[in-house]
Amino acid sequence: MHHEFPLRDGLIYLNHAAVGVWPRRTADAVKAFAEENMVQGAADYPVWMKTERELRGRLQRLVNASGSDDVALLKNTSEGLSLIAYGLDWQPGDNIVSTDQEFPSNRIVWESLASRGVRLRRADVSGEDPEGEMIALMDEKTRLLAVSSVQFGTGVRMDLKRLGKACQERGILFCVDAIQSLGAVSFDAQAVHADFVVADGHKWMSGPEGIALFYSTPQARDRLRLSQYGWHMVEAMGDFDRVEWVPTKSARRFEPGSPNMLGITALNASLSLFEEIGMDQVEKQLLERSRLIMDQISEHDQFELITPASSGRYAGIVTFRYKGVDNNGHAALYRRLMDADIICAHRAGGIRLSPHFYSDCSRFEAVWETILSQSI
Ligand SMILES: Cc1ncc(COP(=O)(O)O)c(C=O)c1O
Repeated sequence: MHHEFPLRDGLIYLNHAAVGVWPRRTADAVKAFAEENMVQGAADYPVWMKTERELRGRLQRLVNASGSDDVALLKNTSEGLSLIAYGLDWQPGDNIVSTDQEFPSNRIVWESLASRGVRLRRADVSGEDPEGEMIALMDEKTRLLAVSSVQFGTGVRMDLKRLGKACQERGILFCVDAIQSLGAVSFDAQAVHADFVVADGHKWMSGPEGIALFYSTPQARDRLRLSQYGWHMVEAMGDFDRVEWVPTKSARRFEPGSPNMLGITALNASLSLFEEIGMDQVEKQLLERSRLIMDQISEHDQFELITPASSGRYAGIVTFRYKGVDNNGHAALYRRLMDADIICAHRAGGIRLSPHFYSDCSRFEAVWETILSQSI
């Protein structure tokens, strides 16, 4: 796999939870697309449209959607979440259940609905039973559960099946921010009864920023009022002389204008690699690497894990801290790791390491040597 990820010498890249690394084939596809645009513009536009269809198919398979009609291509996760928040018909007094660990994109947009009398209830998910805490906050006024499949800071992985079942039983919409799962671990939107799934491609899917999956079931998307219009979202797309129009039934109705063909070209190439390898293999290899990092952390008494180590509770994020060291100390440690070419993140009051399935395990020891050589 190293020929697909020819990282420069000395670099240890453990930051896929922030922005992933493109495989070689993606870099090649983007170079070829640039060259093509330079020498012949869009002369082969039908081929671009084929690539676009291919990507919808790959995303459909990645989340196990029942058809590619359930897949829209948006700009990013935040756009998808905003489309849901401002598409639904809220009543004053409604509430949304979520967690106290969400990335800002999956909190701010729900908080912004306060002006319409909608309350956000945030469950404390730091304990043993995060799903139970969320379910306990649901009542007859709960309209939607908004949760990340894996929390960006702590790395806590949610039991989506249990949450989806609880939502289904109560008639609550289930909205999953899956950006920290897709491309890392297997995902089945139908099995977990998700109504909406959103994820940008730039983390675990190893694609570029600015091209995102927006999944919706037909029933769920029918509940969203449209707020963006254009030639691309109508049933008779491409019939520019037609005066009458209706929005298409498919999720394409959320794509008002020209698609991001450059992003589509790149993400399609990246996902072809994941399909070749198979998500079961990707997940297995990634979990092995996360486990190895956790085991290495537990060998050192001065560290403690922030990410839960029990099987099923973690994916590709391992966050840990030095016992007794404050947040500023971790900020300083983070800067020194980055200076040493160990690409990681400072999150949840500790250091977040996020390998991917291809990461070279033999390099992990160097991370601990660097950390332990620092006075803190
Ligand atoms: C859980 C989660 N949601 C959303 C995002 C980013 O959203 P967007 O695709 O809008 O940039 C991140 C990025 O770190 C994230 O961790």
